[in-house]
Amino acid sequence: MRKLLFLGLACLVAAPLVHARAIPDPKQRHAPGNEAPQTPIAQAGYSVGVNYQLQCAGCHLGNGMGSPANDTPRMAGFVGNFLKVPGGREFLVRVPGMSQSALNNAQLADLLNWLMRPDGMAGKSTPTDYQPYTAEEVTALRAKTMLNLPGTRAELIKQMRAQGIAIEDGMSN
Ligand code: HEC
Repeated sequence: MRKLLFLGLACLVAAPLVHARAIPDPKQRHAPGNEAPQTPIAQAGYSVGVNYQLQCAGCHLGNGMGSPANDTPRMAGFVGNFLKVPGGREFLVRVPGMSQSALNNAQLADLLNWLMRPDGMAGKSTPTDYQPYTAEEVTALRAKTMLNLPGTRAELIKQMRAQGIAIEDGMSN
């Protein structure tokens, strides 16, 4: 019994030492060739297509087809329809994937304009009188948090239906 008690005490005394070994070595250095800190994407100067791949394609897929199983709507051939209903222009900037991305405001404006190009993801859904987004517009819209995303989106979809627009967003509703 006494032996067991000593053993327990010894374990208690040794425990902090075991933990101490898990603390990173303060003398540890970067691996050779890996010394420079990573450049944030907002300063990296990648092309729009690369920004899309890095920040959006993980959920929306490379071709913008989205994933109904993950509640990610299809942008391909559809996303431009939001610009045909009141509030839709703001909505596109304020969705979390956009407003909370690591891209800066000018990059987001470029990305939206890239999506809306006639040969872009939005394809024929882009209105013919499309006015490009500017960095200033994105700056202002982005700062306004959207509190009720499903409700806002449902209202916009309802307005599209009223205009006779086919809701080809890949979602069930
Ligand atoms: C973590 C997954 C994820 C990422 C990353 C993401 N999105 Fe999204 N996106 C969604 C989901 C899910 C929705 C549906 C609305 C919602 O719940 O936010 C959506 C909605 C949208 C919409 C509105 C379209 C609609 O039909 O409602 C646009 C536009 C959009 N995203 C663009 C982007 C862009 C551009 C990026 C990259 C800068 C991006 N998203 C990054 C998941 C994502």
